[in-house]
Amino acid sequence: MGMKDDEVELFLRSPHSSNRLSRKWYFLVGVIVGLITSFCAFVGVYLVFFHQVSGQFQGCSGQDHNSVIKTPPIAVRTSQCDISKGSDRSDCWPEYRDATQSTCEARGCCWNTDVEQGAPYCYYPGYFNRSYMLMYSQKTSTGVIGHLARTTNSPYPNDSMQLLLEISAETYDRLRIKIYDTTTSRYEVPIETQKEESGGGSDTDFDIKLARNPFGIIIRRLSTGQILFDSTGVSPLIFADQYLQIGTALTTSNVYGFGEHRSGFKLDTNWKKMVFWNRDQPPEPNLNLYGAHPFYLNMDEQHNAHGVFLLNSNAMEVDFQPFNGTGAVTYRALGGILDFYIFIGPTPDMVVQQYTNLVGRPFLPPFWSLGFHMCKYGYNNAAELKKVIARNRAAKMPYDVQWNDIDYMTAHLDWTYDNTTYPDLPDIVADLHKNNQRYVIIVDPGISVTQQPGTYPPYDEGIEDDIFIKADNGSNLIGKVWPGMTVFPDFFHPNSSEWWFRQAKAYYDQVPYDGLWVDMNEPSNFVTGSITGCTSNSLDNPPFVPPTIDGSSLMASTVCPSARQSISTHYNLHNMYGLSEMKVTSSVLKKLLNKRSFVLSRSTFPSAGVYGTHWLGDNLSSWDDLYYSIPGILNFQMFGIPFVGVDICGFREDTTAELCTRWMQVGAFYPFMRNHNSGKMDQDPASFDSRTQDIMRSVLETRYRLLPFLYTLLYRSHANWGPCGPPIVLPESHERYPEAGAEAVDRQFLWGSALLISPVLEQGAVTVKAYIPGDVWYDYYNRSRVSTVGQYVQLDAPIDKINLHIRGGSVIPTKPAAVTTNQMRGEMFALLVALDNNGTASGEVFWDDGDSIDTVENNLYSLVSFSVHSNTLSNKVLASNYKKGAEMSLSEVTVMGVSASPDSVTVNGKGAAFEYDKKSKVLIISGLAVDLLQGLKIKW
Ligand code: GLC
Repeated sequence: MGMKDDEVELFLRSPHSSNRLSRKWYFLVGVIVGLITSFCAFVGVYLVFFHQVSGQFQGCSGQDHNSVIKTPPIAVRTSQCDISKGSDRSDCWPEYRDATQSTCEARGCCWNTDVEQGAPYCYYPGYFNRSYMLMYSQKTSTGVIGHLARTTNSPYPNDSMQLLLEISAETYDRLRIKIYDTTTSRYEVPIETQKEESGGGSDTDFDIKLARNPFGIIIRRLSTGQILFDSTGVSPLIFADQYLQIGTALTTSNVYGFGEHRSGFKLDTNWKKMVFWNRDQPPEPNLNLYGAHPFYLNMDEQHNAHGVFLLNSNAMEVDFQPFNGTGAVTYRALGGILDFYIFIGPTPDMVVQQYTNLVGRPFLPPFWSLGFHMCKYGYNNAAELKKVIARNRAAKMPYDVQWNDIDYMTAHLDWTYDNTTYPDLPDIVADLHKNNQRYVIIVDPGISVTQQPGTYPPYDEGIEDDIFIKADNGSNLIGKVWPGMTVFPDFFHPNSSEWWFRQAKAYYDQVPYDGLWVDMNEPSNFVTGSITGCTSNSLDNPPFVPPTIDGSSLMASTVCPSARQSISTHYNLHNMYGLSEMKVTSSVLKKLLNKRSFVLSRSTFPSAGVYGTHWLGDNLSSWDDLYYSIPGILNFQMFGIPFVGVDICGFREDTTAELCTRWMQVGAFYPFMRNHNSGKMDQDPASFDSRTQDIMRSVLETRYRLLPFLYTLLYRSHANWGPCGPPIVLPESHERYPEAGAEAVDRQFLWGSALLISPVLEQGAVTVKAYIPGDVWYDYYNRSRVSTVGQYVQLDAPIDKINLHIRGGSVIPTKPAAVTTNQMRGEMFALLVALDNNGTASGEVFWDDGDSIDTVENNLYSLVSFSVHSNTLSNKVLASNYKKGAEMSLSEVTVMGVSASPDSVTVNGKGAAFEYDKKSKVLIISGLAVDLLQGLKIKW
């Protein structure tokens, strides 16, 4: 049966704006199509029909025209169940509970237990007979809109029978696929995404195809024909009120991302599930952890990368299967809408740039926060804290920031300090500041409800402002955290910012901290849901719950999903609790300090990197945890939170001198470097013997020297994509010129693409097996060229050494190390120049005052690029608005790979002193004091 012309013409009348139709129009179209659907409802169409979007309308056709919209389950023909390869089966029973043949068949699905391990026994028939059909489609200026309808029930209650589909190339490098209900308005994620079109419509490399019945989407990379997204064969589309399902085939099994989780960097696509429901859970494999990031990056056979992001904050699982040889992923979300973004790449760093263009570029941290941070849960008193500060100063450890965990508080109450155990805390902080060090404190979201009225402003004022999360019955929801019974601020509440600011300021006036650590913000709750439990409604007990650590419970260790927040239910907002707290806290800090903010958060969600950063939580002092820190850090580069760290030396249980030494060596190359501990044993550098201290000091000094390079990478990831790429830390597999064999390397990593870090991650090892990419590389320490590249090599790695290599073609800015970043800032720059095979190299340095707000946006920085060719290093001053004498001068240049000793060296035309080492082929030009903001030419 064909669709009637008059109904179809609704779109024809406004072809240019049809992708921006108002809800009113959609509603009208929905009603009309609903009527048509009732005529066109049919069962059993066996062909998948691909429809190249052409602007033509597709009629609805079918064998059977039912006049009802919903039909009972359909009997399945045996032939439809004949799917011999388990890998190609689509799971029809994703619930935690086991299915039986009869319950499975009652769903209209197939049952067969003769299949390889991991594959489902209960699966959808080969042809997804219970899904949506594309009723019509209309080409728009940037994509297509369409209308979908279903006529049968899915296994889940409250199907949306009609859906709108909008596919549009929002920018030349990003395609959005939005599927939502035509008739009911549903929750959509309230993050600020960058919506602007970049005018690249004509240059898009996307090709869209739609399958009509059952409905499916195929997105291809036009230039190569590679399919990037294909929902046609993986899982039937389901859009029920609390169960949204869609699947896509993967291009290869080289898939990365999806978090927060613990695993190797390259994901295991062999029957693995990942659950996103933020949870106070120490990092262990296969468990839902602190944050939710439904974003992945996939490499194809030709090493082109693309990214896929599902903007949905509801509880969700992603389910991998080894489908069709390449793998597939099925999403199952418990609410919201389906709102996908596909990023075209084609390099991995471009994918990350395109993703952060959408969710927001990472914040530029204050320069001091690049220094070394120390913390312990359990200093317990001022004397102990002072002892630790003093011994690390005495040991001359580069050390910028001291932290306090909850033991500084009175009875674990936010915004208080314990007058008996920490009576002189303000003096300690004054002393830190006098020594150019900073101080960061923890605050948890749980606000105690058990204090005497009138004695505890955070609670009293919060009640007045009415900013606490409400239980379903309208009263403030009470849970239990460190201070005992607590309420939880709703950081989406319009009054929460002012309230949080007043508390932060009142405490700051007593103890002037420099940054805030917002912990326990999943939010964590020591009782299930609330002290009185949760409701029996469908928000607390949804029809489907993914396998969370608590055996499919959404209320365990957090507040009831049915709890109410000002803009929606906690059911919808749970995964964004940490993000909402980060956002408010970062603006509070900026207002309070009138400086750049530093916020460390345990829970995160897409866009969190705009407001602060993250560490990977309560790890264990173990060698395994040391290894897992690397894939963990790499993941957060993709999630747009590049300034990430891990509790160095391990948080839970006691470390050992050897483990802590190796961990300090790796940690010196985490973007954010904090040693934190809850074990009995101390693990600050100065607590160890003098040999261990020497090793730790030395690697700290290496980090400090390289901080101008790290800061420049952070600037790039904040500002725009440049020669150093947006992620700070890169895996070898994601380099611009990836090599076969590097796909799964996650025991090494890179800073930008210039510095390769190959640590020891095993107890007792004094060598390390490292993959050195096929390029020119120099040993960081002796500056000589590495002879074997493009393969694994065995490198010496005695306990006092972490292997570092510099890529030929790079220029790395440095400054001399000092005990604080404040001290080193004033020193002159030096450059490490590593020549490639053509004798060329390039690099850049970004510099500003280190802590003013928005220096990039307000043009208050200097940016200088360097290039080397024909034995000449020259600069280009791209911005020169931060000038400060020595700070912007150059004292020394080290050039690696100079084949013969030069006769002379000139700097801006004048002869200069130099040394040349024949053996290592290194030229050192020192004793300079030239301004980097003026034209520079160094010739040899
Ligand atoms: C949480 C944090 C940990 C902190 C502890 C006490 O477990 O993840 O870092 O030390 O709470 O505040």
